[in-house]
Amino acid sequence: MDFPELFSPTDIRSIPLKNRLFFGPHGTGMSEGGFLGARQIAYYEARIRNNIGLIFTEAHHVEPLEGIVYPTCSAATDACIPALAEMAGLCGANDVRLFGQLFHEGRSALSLRDGRREVTVGPSAIPDERHHNVPRAMTVPMIEDLVGHFAAAAERMVRAGVDGIEILVGMGYLHAQFLSPHINQRTDEYGGSVAGRRKFLEKTLIAVRDAIGDRPAIGFRIVPEDDDPDGLELEESVAQCVAIAEADLCDFINVAVGNVSTLAGVPSIVPSMYTPAGACLPPARAVRSALLERGIDTVKVIAAGRINQPQDAERALGEGDVDMVGAVRAFIADHEFATKAKEGRADEIRACIACNQACIGHRATGHAISCIQHPATSRERTYGTVTITPKPKSVLVVGGGPGGMKAAAVAAERGHTVTLIEKGPRLGGQVLLAERLPGRAEFGGVITNLISELNRYGVAIETGVEATAELVRQRKPGAVIIATGATPFTPDPGWFEGAHVVTAWDVLRGEGTVGKNVVVADWRCDWIGPGVAELLRIDQRCNVRLAVNGETVGYTVQNYLKYQLAGRLHAVGVDVLPYMRLIGADADTVYLQHVVNAEPVLLEGVDTLVLASGHRGGLDLHDGLAGHVPELYAIGDCLSPRTVEEAISEGMETAFLL
Ligand SMILES: Cc1cc2nc3c(=O)[nH]c(=O)nc-3n(C[C@H](O)[C@H](O)[C@H](O)COP(=O)(O)O)c2cc1C
Ligand code: SF4
Repeated sequence: MDFPELFSPTDIRSIPLKNRLFFGPHGTGMSEGGFLGARQIAYYEARIRNNIGLIFTEAHHVEPLEGIVYPTCSAATDACIPALAEMAGLCGANDVRLFGQLFHEGRSALSLRDGRREVTVGPSAIPDERHHNVPRAMTVPMIEDLVGHFAAAAERMVRAGVDGIEILVGMGYLHAQFLSPHINQRTDEYGGSVAGRRKFLEKTLIAVRDAIGDRPAIGFRIVPEDDDPDGLELEESVAQCVAIAEADLCDFINVAVGNVSTLAGVPSIVPSMYTPAGACLPPARAVRSALLERGIDTVKVIAAGRINQPQDAERALGEGDVDMVGAVRAFIADHEFATKAKEGRADEIRACIACNQACIGHRATGHAISCIQHPATSRERTYGTVTITPKPKSVLVVGGGPGGMKAAAVAAERGHTVTLIEKGPRLGGQVLLAERLPGRAEFGGVITNLISELNRYGVAIETGVEATAELVRQRKPGAVIIATGATPFTPDPGWFEGAHVVTAWDVLRGEGTVGKNVVVADWRCDWIGPGVAELLRIDQRCNVRLAVNGETVGYTVQNYLKYQLAGRLHAVGVDVLPYMRLIGADADTVYLQHVVNAEPVLLEGVDTLVLASGHRGGLDLHDGLAGHVPELYAIGDCLSPRTVEEAISEGMETAFLL
């Protein structure tokens, strides 16, 4: 056994757990009508069958969801029971325990109800910085009423078959708002002192225990120090955990990071590749040590947060940071994570690269979560089982970027004989450039993982071979997949007479010199323009102005990443100009227009203009082969330049058609 600690059994409140690995709570965007949906249960089932010890449901509201538009769950009525019972049954049949998570957003409520801003509530009328809500200070009857809702929701979940209840305290939600000395400015019994601030949580835990009886476990998820000037501080949070444990009100404490209330805190909830791994472990260790110092070893301390390898999980357990280790994205990226670790195949794990594109990125835009590397996630009912083909054929894939690689790997896994041709010396396509952006080296993991898949399924790889229509026809393939990618889109050179112009690709490849004073014209508004701007600022000490053709840096990418890009650029001193359309340049000046009112904006004293103007696909090879090969497909950027996510998912989908 490679990971003896990870796969040793344990228990929480004498509920037996077959190992120390848990699948953390996460909204999947797949709920239906406010309850776990069929697609969501299929998603969980793929993980339930793969050796995880404990699974948490996504956060369930304790009040009805009327008017809430984003897909989320509620346990406010008995209507939640059938779906929860189905999930609990699946878990039970596979020796997996299921804990239900309950929460109240308080002042951090995300949603508009039927288009109108709702009355948010909190311990005191202290505004929150992200949602711009000023809550109504709760009265004591309102608090007591809400405690009753938590108890009733917990009882429903237990009736449905869950083995434990977790109250989501931290990440800026209502219970954390009560714990915070800054947000809770009450002078009554629910504030005013450390004990007073704890009272709402204590009352909730007591009421839940009364409602669910003795057997199920009860715990809470806390962020001991969050990214919020108004937030919790480690020392007091630890003291609160100790007091609750000493009063015997909980069986486990789940320690996390992040805060929904601030633009700094919300990306930390799902730490990206910009953040060091395992950020949840130091605060978890602080809580666990404090409990052990007081002789409390029955309250299990568990944590999840950017632990994407079983080796790291094993280390955290071995070093005594936690009693159980969790993950969310590691299991989104590879539903077989635990099975592979258990069976000595850890090197086959498709490690999560913390890009946050398709998991929290989809969630943040109201869509079902997935994974850029594993597009079968959330599409289990269609792509969950890779079927072996009854008619194996020879498949030629042209283009060794991520889309071509995925198509080749899945086609080979299905039993076809596959050759992958790449004209460059290395596989990877644009990922080889993307991994050079500051802080984004981990993005290269996409290619490491795909190479492992290609080798596992026996794909023949030919690099340094430029495919022409003639070459392809000579090979007489049964099917051809064109995945030749894109090249930089550059406006008419006539626009830039006398100017020194390079593309973002030139900069990333280290080709072409760049002067001291630089303007990066960012039409695409994703990672590339900001990344190149940061790179030139840090590596070459350029004075950089980033002219963005959108409302803000990273306009086309999901919020969490956008906030981080904005923070990084501000920290290194890149000047950002939003709403800018590039219309030309000469030897000294870049000519822009405001995209809303077309007013001219001139940037003078410019040595180099860097174009992040997007990409251009191309279907010449595809069109030249049409009618000359039995089956022909085109995928990814050659069809229309987008991102790695679309390239890989189209690669998988096409391989299923063969
Ligand atoms: C799509 C998504 C939704 C999440 N929703 C919740 C949630 O409902 N409740 C919660 O406590 N944490 C939620 N989280 C945070 C995770 O539980 C976890 O703490 C975080 O993803 C870090 O762990 P990881 O690095 O293993 O992904 C969510 C995370 C993701 C990716
Ligand atoms: S989309 Fe990125 S961050 Fe999300 S699970 Fe996949 S690899 Fe991890």
